[in-house]
Order: sequence, then structure tokens, then C-alpha cells
Amino acid sequence: MIKKKSVEEILEIAKVEEVVQDFVQLKRRGVSMIGLCPFHSEKTPSFNVSPAKGIYKCFGCGKAGDAVSFVMEHENLTFPEALRYLAKKYGVKLEETELSQEARQEQQFLDSLYIVNQYARDYYQDQLFNTDLGKSVGLNYFRERGFREDTIRKFGLGFAPDKMDAFVVKATHDGYNSDLMKKVGLMSQYGRDFFRNRVMFPIHNLSGKVIGFGGRILVKDVKAPKYINTPETEIYTKSKVLYGAYFAKRAIRQEDECILVEGYTDVLSLHQSGIENVVASSGTSLTVDQIRLIKRNTENIKILYDGDMAGIKAALRGMGMVLEQGLNVKIVVLPEGEDPDSYLKQVGVEAFKTYIGKEAKDFIMFQAGMLQEEAAGDPIKKANLIKDIVDSIAKIPEPIKRSLYVRECARIMEVEEQLLVNETNKVVAQHFKKQQQEKERTQLRQFEAEQDGFAVEPARPVLKPKEDAIASGDAFQEKDIIRILVAGGSTLFDQDDNLTVAQYLLSNIEDVLEDFDNKLYQRTANLARERILAGEEVSTAYFLNHPDPEIRELAINLVTSPYEYSENWAKRWEIFLTTQKMPDDNFINDSTQSLKRFKLRKFDKMIRQNAEKIKTLFEQKSDEYLLYLKLDQKLKAVRNQLAEELGTVVF
Ligand code: CTP
Ligand code: MN
Repeated sequence: MIKKKSVEEILEIAKVEEVVQDFVQLKRRGVSMIGLCPFHSEKTPSFNVSPAKGIYKCFGCGKAGDAVSFVMEHENLTFPEALRYLAKKYGVKLEETELSQEARQEQQFLDSLYIVNQYARDYYQDQLFNTDLGKSVGLNYFRERGFREDTIRKFGLGFAPDKMDAFVVKATHDGYNSDLMKKVGLMSQYGRDFFRNRVMFPIHNLSGKVIGFGGRILVKDVKAPKYINTPETEIYTKSKVLYGAYFAKRAIRQEDECILVEGYTDVLSLHQSGIENVVASSGTSLTVDQIRLIKRNTENIKILYDGDMAGIKAALRGMGMVLEQGLNVKIVVLPEGEDPDSYLKQVGVEAFKTYIGKEAKDFIMFQAGMLQEEAAGDPIKKANLIKDIVDSIAKIPEPIKRSLYVRECARIMEVEEQLLVNETNKVVAQHFKKQQQEKERTQLRQFEAEQDGFAVEPARPVLKPKEDAIASGDAFQEKDIIRILVAGGSTLFDQDDNLTVAQYLLSNIEDVLEDFDNKLYQRTANLARERILAGEEVSTAYFLNHPDPEIRELAINLVTSPYEYSENWAKRWEIFLTTQKMPDDNFINDSTQSLKRFKLRKFDKMIRQNAEKIKTLFEQKSDEYLLYLKLDQKLKAVRNQLAEELGTVVF
């Protein structure tokens, strides 16, 4: 662990404006500096840096923090990683406390795997540039394919000579033991070179370390595979890696879009032409891990497919997962027989850019259009295709987006919108039920384990409020939301989107529903949710006539009692309300406000718990408290933002 003294030194020396300016262009404006926010896409700058205060804040998306949190956020680094980054930038020498024996050995082992890989990369590169064979065969091959020397060097490309064990011999001579070479996949079990007579593509992790290699054959040979890759090792898992991610991540964030291609050479080609927000799945269909990797940087993904129909159809089937992760997917089909690399070379970068801009189709629309064409005049086929489309739409997590797709697809496929609505709702309800069952099973397992005397870590820390006031405070927020839901759920929230107050509320509290303190309110919300999923109206009458007497009673109370704030509201929560009483019928305004207050309470709770944690760690003299201190800043930034939006005073 990094010593406190070093941490303090870095915090002292790192200037927020200098750190930010490595990534964002800033202009001076009065005492602060301003630029385009790197965390969300915008055209007019709202990203503020205050050198005097040592902080940044975006007034568009609310992201805020200091030099360290900027690096953490922007480069996807942990706190210690960010400190190391800054130490390097400012030439500070880090002092670290001793690791445990075991941890040190593990660390040393992993480090040595990276070191062997780096050695191998240098070796292959040396072979490429400095040997006769490497130059005439390898370098010549790359050049013929149009790769410039700067590209070759940037990606660390190399050449593995056609010898049994040239690498192993050289590495052994230089002091690398065969055990490590085997563990990192560079030496076969018979002690030979794993890669022979191939051009080499090093594969990097997100911090730029070489974790594996791909090697391409140079001759046309039907027996040998065109590419071979490093087998799975302790530092390389193919399904978790996207080729080129290290070189692309900055551009992906800047463009707020990730272009996905299939091959190593596609990445190189596009990158070399200045299209840098590109990664490759390396010929396999996307995995959840890879999607998450993308999602850390952008929600928008554009997939470039080679233009053959069979391949496209196969790929479409794998797209459900991407939709489930909430990404916006666009598809570009390249002309028949072309891959991104070949097409770019054929038409040049400008025409290429125009093409992938113009031809990009929203994934679901693309699927709808394609299936529609296919099923033209065939009612049975058409029924099947509706099922396919509905499955895709139902995977989209956001209800509002779902309803937009339903409308558009109904138009494209020439079916009645209501039909598609009903079908989609059925599938969504099924998903929901499945999730619910899964959750119940988990709870049951946990319960059983506890009965058996095993202590099971809860999935999330269970919040146990210390004072009664906290619980009643939260319950009050919950009541507010439920009141609006019951009394005004069927009110139209947005005329254009056909969105009801109930839909709006539910889509916003879905993820905290299980944290509701009051079980009756929770049950009421769940009832509303089920009705929405079933495509039915959430009306006051529904609750007033519910078979469950408890629900009926609640509904009566909620709609009849005049609505008031709890007496000591302002005093107890140190918040002044802009309005002291809310009109009973203003459901639209009420629901937004109410949600914000609900979230505000949740944040307050987290801040309090975090403060406890900081205190404990500090008392234990653990440096880890610094981490939670950062979290504290972040939580407070969001909390204050919410409070600001509510027009309340924060003390
Ligand atoms: N691939 C692989 N093993 C193979 C074939 C392909 O791992 N036997 C992966 C590689 O990552 C490759 C990608 O799938 O880059 C796409 O394969 P392909 O389209 O056949 O190759 P290209 O990338 O187009 O390579 P080239 O242009 O050099 O033919
Ligand atoms: Mn190719």
C-alpha cells in the first residue's frame, strides 16, 4: 500500500488544471477555467475547473471532484492506480508499505508474467525491424498491407521467425525461466516456441500492459489456422478482452461512441486513418464482460459487419445481451465481400466515414426492416418475426425507450401498435417474473445457509438505521411517492410520450424498490408495477377496489387526507422547502420533486454510513480511509446537486 506521506505529497503537488489539461482543452474565464466536459457529450462548454479550489465541476452532468478523482474517473483507475499515475506525471517517488508475504508473492508472480510478455514483444519487434528475414518477410507483409511504420510501432507489431525454439533459447539465455514462459503461453509443453513464422499482434490490457498475442500466418495454408492466439492464462482471458481498447478508450469517450469490428487488422487500419474509437471482438461474438468494458466508456456502439447475410443473421441473434446492458446499438453493413480494413483501403477515409455515418441503422429498426422484407406476403413468417422483434424490444431496460421502439416497429412492419404493445408487455412480464423467482431463490438459499449456521455475506450491506428518525424520514418519502402513485398515477405525465405519472414514478424507483422501508408501500408500488407491465392502467379506482383490505384502506387514506408535510420536516432534515404546502392535484410537479427528495434521503443515509466508515478506518490507522474520503466528496456532490435542484438550502 502507498504510504500516507506519499499520498499527501501527491495531493499537495498535483494541480487540477494541469491534470485535466492533459485530456481537456481549457480556456480561462475569470478565476476559473472552462472546457467541454469529457464525461458527457456536449457542444457548449459547461465543465469548470477552479485552480484556486483545486476542483472541477461539470454543470451539465454534475460530475465533480479533485485532481485524483478526475484521473480515476477519466482513466478508469482505482485510487492507488490514480496516485501512481500522478506520481509518474509529477516525478514523485512513491513510498509503499510492506505487503503481506503472500500478497507480495502473488504480485511478483503476476508482474513477472507481464515482464515476460513485454520481453517477448520487444523480441518480436526486434526480429521484425532488425533481422533480414523479419524485414523481407514480416515488415514487407505489413507494408504491402499499407500499414505505416508509426502504426506498426504504436501497436508494437512484430515477427516470429520460422524456427523451433529461437525465442525460448534467447529468453532462457537472458534469464527467463521456462515455467514462466509456459504460464504466459509463449512456450509449448514440449519446450518449443508457441508462435512460429507469423506476424505478431500484441494484445494489451486497459493500462497498456501486454497480456497476450495474436499471430497471423503469412502464407496461404489450408491446414494451419490463419490466426493463433495466446491460450488462456492467468493474465489473459480472451472473452474479457477487446483488442485495441487501450488505444481507443480516450477516443471512445470523446466521440461518445465505440466502433466494433471483427479483426486485428480492421482496428489497425481504422486507427491509422484517424478513426481511433475502434475495438475488435477478435472474431467471436460479444461477451457480457466485453460489453461492460465498452459501457464504462460510452453507451453507444456501432457495429461494422462484413456484408454477407448469413454472418449478419448469426450476429443478430447474439445481440440480446447488448440490448440488456442498455447500450444503444447501431449496425453498419459493409458492401458484400468487404471488411472494414479492405473497404477503407478501397474508398479512402472520407468516403468511409460518410458511409458508416449514412448507413448506420438503429439495431432494432434494422432487424425489423430485414425481417419484414423476408416475410413479405407470408403471414406465418410474419407472426414469427413479430416474436423475434418483441424479444429484442423486451430486453431494453428503459420503459420509455421500449415504447418508442414499439411504435416505430409497428410502423415498419405494418402491424397494429396495440398488438405489439401487448406482446411486448407479456415478454417483459415474463422477464420480471423470472427475475423475481431468481431473487426469491437467492433469498431462500441465504436463509437456509443462515439456518445451517453459515454466515452469508448479504449481496448488499443491509442498512440498519441507528435512530428512529432515519426510518420515519425515509418512510415519509416513500409515502409521498405512493400517495402520488395512488391518487394521480393515471395522469398523463408527458402528452407527447403518452407516459403516465405511474410509469414515470415506477421507472425511476425500480432500482430502489427493494430498499423501501415500509412494506405496505413497497407492496403497493409492486402492484402498480405489475399493472404497468401487463399494459393496464394504474388508476385510483384500482387501488380503492383492490381485494386486499390493507391496500383498500391505504388508498382511502391517501386520497382523502389533506396532504401535509410532517411538522418538523424543515427542522429535522435541515432543509427548507420552497413551498410549504403542495396542491393536491399537481401530480406532475409533485412526482419529480418527490422523487428527488426520496433520492436525497437515500444519499444522506449513504453519506452518514460512509462517515462512520471513515471514522472507523481512521481510528484503525488504515490508509484506506482516504478512499472513503473521496467517496464522501462524490456523494456530497450528487447530494448537493439534488438539493440545489430542489431549491433547498444545504447547511
Ligand atoms: N480469428 C482468430 N482465429 C482464426 C481466425 C480469426 O482468432 N483462426 C480472429 C482474429 O482476431 C481476426 C478476427 O478473428 O482478426 C477476424 O478474422 P478474419 O476476418 O478472418 O481476419 P482479418 O482480421 O480480416 O485478418 P486479415 O485481414 O489479415 O485476413
Ligand atoms: Mn481483413
